[in-house]
Amino acid sequence: MQLQLEELIVKAKQEIGQCSNLSELANLKAQYVGKKSELNNLFGKLKDIPAEERPAFGQAVNRARNKLEELIDGRETELRNSIWNQTKQGLDLTMPGTAYPRGGLHPLTKVMREIEDVFIGMGFAIAEGFDIEDEFHNFDALNTPKDHPSRNLADTFYLKDGNLLRTQTSTVQVRTMEKYPPPIRIISPGRCYRNDKPDASHSPVFHQVEGLVVDEGVTMADMKDTLHRFAKSIFGNDVQVRLRPHFFPFTEPSVEMDMSCSVCGGKGCRVCKQSGWLELCGAGMVDPNVFDILKIDSERYTGYAFGFGIDRITMMKYNIPDLRILYDNDLRVLRQFS
Ligand code: PHE
Repeated sequence: MQLQLEELIVKAKQEIGQCSNLSELANLKAQYVGKKSELNNLFGKLKDIPAEERPAFGQAVNRARNKLEELIDGRETELRNSIWNQTKQGLDLTMPGTAYPRGGLHPLTKVMREIEDVFIGMGFAIAEGFDIEDEFHNFDALNTPKDHPSRNLADTFYLKDGNLLRTQTSTVQVRTMEKYPPPIRIISPGRCYRNDKPDASHSPVFHQVEGLVVDEGVTMADMKDTLHRFAKSIFGNDVQVRLRPHFFPFTEPSVEMDMSCSVCGGKGCRVCKQSGWLELCGAGMVDPNVFDILKIDSERYTGYAFGFGIDRITMMKYNIPDLRILYDNDLRVLRQFS
């Protein structure tokens, strides 16, 4: 019996010593000291042994078990140490991690957010509309006659169901006045669509910000001051503005506002075609007809609206010579803004 145990230990010692990974070792552990192990089998034979030999036999089995467990634990420590040593080599915990390339905001998004901040600072709220609109919100409610050239297929993208892609964010002016009574003070930034052939200053998709203020006693002076403050916030305190008479169906009187050229400061250069001025936006006092269509009391309330192209402002701000650069999404260009 003693011999049997000694043989078992010799065999185990050899196998455990050769075992090269922890899962193999777990199998060996089950095999040698687990519930169904040979050792446990021997314990089961205790009752067949003459009573006076039993204590010695029990002790021998226990000694063998201790020896086997010692061998297994020792090998486990060796294996764990060698795993640790292998990973430790070539693993320098003080090394900086892999840097992932970070994206940045598109210049249009940057300028859009900057513009929003300026107007939020002046007490405006941001309103949103829909890219797909109906003729009522894009034209009729904006006092645009049925035969107005901008309604033309050559200018406006119509959908099969009779709806259209909005040609201006002025649609949000209408939606806001439908929904909320005065006082109103909103801007609505968003995409617009016109059937234009792409060139250096035209794109079938572009971005506008519409502004609308309606309250008692609102005057054109308020409008000019607000727009001047806006121009100064974006282009610097020295910027001058001027109003020129213009026409829009939904404002009366209507103006276009110019600002002193951001490139030459008003002295005259190629960008401003030597005039010293750059067109900034369209604006005007809300036409009482629009108030009447939207059931706002035009005797009590006055208001102004303005609209400008974010693309144009982005080009002026960053000296971008061609509008298409903003839509090509060439990473070499975009990286300069991130
Ligand atoms: N919606 C006009 C355009 O697209 C701009 C504008 C807005 C003019 C509001 C006056 C008032 O040209």
